[in-house]
Amino acid sequence: MSRPICIVGTGYVGMASMLGLADLGWKVHGYDIVPERVDRLRRGIPPYREPKLPELLQHHIEHRNVHFFDSIEEAASGSQVVIIAVGTPSRDDGSADLSAVRAAVEMLAHVQFATWPTIVLRSTVPPGTTDSLSALVAPWGNLIYAPEFLREGSAVHDFLNPDRIVVGSATPAEAVPYVTLLERLQKPVVFTSRSNAELIKCCSNAYLALKISFANEVANLCGAFGATSDDVLRGIGYDQRIGPHFLRPGIGFGGPCFEKDVKSVEFVSAQYGLGEGLFSATLRVNEGQPGRVIRILEEEIGSFAGTTIGVWGLAFKANTDDIRDSLALRIVDELGRRGAKMLVYDPAVHVAPLPVGSRLVTSALEAARADALLVLTEWPQFARIDPTAYASGIARRVVVDGRNVLDADRVVAAGLIYRGIGRSGPSATERRTSLASALTV
Ligand SMILES: NC(=O)c1ccc[n+]([C@@H]2O[C@H](COP(=O)([O-])OP(=O)(O)OC[C@H]3O[C@@H](n4cnc5c(N)ncnc54)[C@H](O)[C@@H]3O)[C@@H](O)[C@H]2O)c1
Repeated sequence: MSRPICIVGTGYVGMASMLGLADLGWKVHGYDIVPERVDRLRRGIPPYREPKLPELLQHHIEHRNVHFFDSIEEAASGSQVVIIAVGTPSRDDGSADLSAVRAAVEMLAHVQFATWPTIVLRSTVPPGTTDSLSALVAPWGNLIYAPEFLREGSAVHDFLNPDRIVVGSATPAEAVPYVTLLERLQKPVVFTSRSNAELIKCCSNAYLALKISFANEVANLCGAFGATSDDVLRGIGYDQRIGPHFLRPGIGFGGPCFEKDVKSVEFVSAQYGLGEGLFSATLRVNEGQPGRVIRILEEEIGSFAGTTIGVWGLAFKANTDDIRDSLALRIVDELGRRGAKMLVYDPAVHVAPLPVGSRLVTSALEAARADALLVLTEWPQFARIDPTAYASGIARRVVVDGRNVLDADRVVAAGLIYRGIGRSGPSATERRTSLASALTV
């Protein structure tokens, strides 16, 4: 196929798809509705922080493998395959906002295609979406659904190394132009219907979110009981039927995907009369987790009024500067409402909406000059800082590790009080002893 592939939307998924396809030897056109983004991309400036993105972008611009357009006609008219990767955020009622997807399809309807195009919807959408949009495309092209499973922080790598390729189409033949693009990856392909493919994507995310909520429930029990969640979850994860991935407790899942995707499946389930089940429980546990972390801090320092809290991490996960729906931001907001000021450090986040009186600082040690230290993103570099370097700066001696990323023994050896998620502290052990004696009476 010598025609360029067109990608509509140059966000996390759009850029990873562009650079991944360019790596596979295709010429790729990128179109975005935001002209400033297009302008910066043409100059090789990535729209966000993502490992390998700057080098790959530079390389493929220099080799003329990727081109950026602010006109959909110029970007798409010569393409046989057009991939839509625009955002699908949550509405207030939990349903997915599909307005950008619809706008992209409507825009493509006005393009004078040189050939009959295959339009590949890659955004995460609720089941039934692609079928309902297909009538808009049928007069001039085929519409298929092919979800993306990449993770921010390893986006291009994940694009090129998927566990499987899922493609949903009305007939197997309609999937061929898209699957041909990825043939070199030599991965298993699930050919299925469009709705099945949509369900595979949103239910995969719901399952991963469920695992995180499960890990948090187990860790919360460990914390109450005086057990160690690290050992308990490691022991569970060794079971090959379960696996270790995503069995990490913390402040809960945030970011642009899990919460909105589980809400969207929950919303669709409710429409089919399926009541409060696992999807709702997953969200409920997650919603409670930031409050638990705040309570641990409160147990150690009391009222937040007039305190200064050092915060390490704002991004929703390590290796990204993405703060969309970051639970770290929600925790910082709540602490601000309760009278604390925050000194916040994140290696990648340089702009963020913070409560009045709080500010971003430029080093982890500067943030740690506070009454207490709170870790909210699992950046590995936080664990590499010797606790003796910050111990003397923490006036109330308290470290709450909302991601279980620090070495608890080293923190305690530096003279600090350490509390993690389901990592037993003295107070939990005391609670268990008193509960045990109450039970034997
Ligand atoms: N971010 C992830 O880790 C990830 C992983 C898998 C799937 N997804 C899904 O992929 C989709 C895109 O996610 P993202 O994180 O890349 O979003 P994003 O917000 O980073 O990027 C969306 C891009 O689309 C552009 N856009 C919006 N409307 C447009 C239009 N009509 N025409 C052209 N461009 C338009 C925006 O300007 C933006 O650049 C979502 O449905 C998301 O759920 C995301």
